[in-house]
Amino acid sequence: MTSLAVTNCTVAFGGLKAIDDLTLTIPGGTITALIGPNGSGKSTFCNMVSGQIPPVTGSVLLDGASITRVRTDRIVAAGLARTYQVPRVPRELTIGEVIGVPLRYARSSRDLPRGMSTGADVARFCGLAPSLDTRCAELSVSDLRRLEIARALACKPRVLLLDEAMAGLGHEDAEQVIALVREVHAAGITIVVIEHVMRIIASLCQHALVLNNGRLLSEGTPAVVLSDPVVREAYLGKGFAP
Ligand SMILES: Nc1ncnc2c1ncn2[C@@H]1O[C@H](COP(=O)(O)OP(=O)(O)OP(=O)(O)O)[C@@H](O)[C@H]1O
Ligand SMILES: [Mg+2]
Repeated sequence: MTSLAVTNCTVAFGGLKAIDDLTLTIPGGTITALIGPNGSGKSTFCNMVSGQIPPVTGSVLLDGASITRVRTDRIVAAGLARTYQVPRVPRELTIGEVIGVPLRYARSSRDLPRGMSTGADVARFCGLAPSLDTRCAELSVSDLRRLEIARALACKPRVLLLDEAMAGLGHEDAEQVIALVREVHAAGITIVVIEHVMRIIASLCQHALVLNNGRLLSEGTPAVVLSDPVVREAYLGKGFAP
């Protein structure tokens, strides 16, 4: 089953095509890696499919239904949620408020996974130790990363895009977030992981897509893609360590 399909999509910033006539599919039920050098268009891909920067050409389908140039709240209702590379939570809100807004207002007909029903359930599932009354300004980077995932889960997605959800975390915190990603996947949610650490990609993902200059450079299992000479060349000088 194909869950997210992008066909001939372009996003341009002035003369720069951050997404350039891109066609790819995210296979349903997988944890799929979306990788590529800095500036290759990964975050723009998230902004494009989530409706924040709609493509100027092409189409985006979620489980066969068009979400091309559809409003972001309707894309969320259709089943697509995402996190941000730089966590975006209002500092003055509490954990409970940040999770509570999508729980209350995301117009989704689906249930939360794993029998969860409250914000406290979602926070616990995501390993958020501070109380629901804790303000976001007081949270550690690790908890902000978990809160981003919790907020996205509260949208009851079918497909979840994680834009560098482990970035800035120490080894132990990163391992815990990786375990959380596996739990979310086991709950039946298709996941797209954007990540620069290839060891994480190799252990977590069944499928990998490589972007370069807004185009699809390579696709396949992580092992095949990471040994592709074209992919290695694209990463050369950018700290590529398979
Ligand atoms: N809002 C914007 N305005 C202008 N240019 C942008 C904007 N967003 C992204 N770009 C440019 O588009 C290209 C792709 O950027 P994008 O952030 O999607 O890359 P990325 O693959 O996520 O990189 P990284 O691995 O560093 O996060 C870059 O050249 C970037 O400078
Ligand atoms: Mg990015």
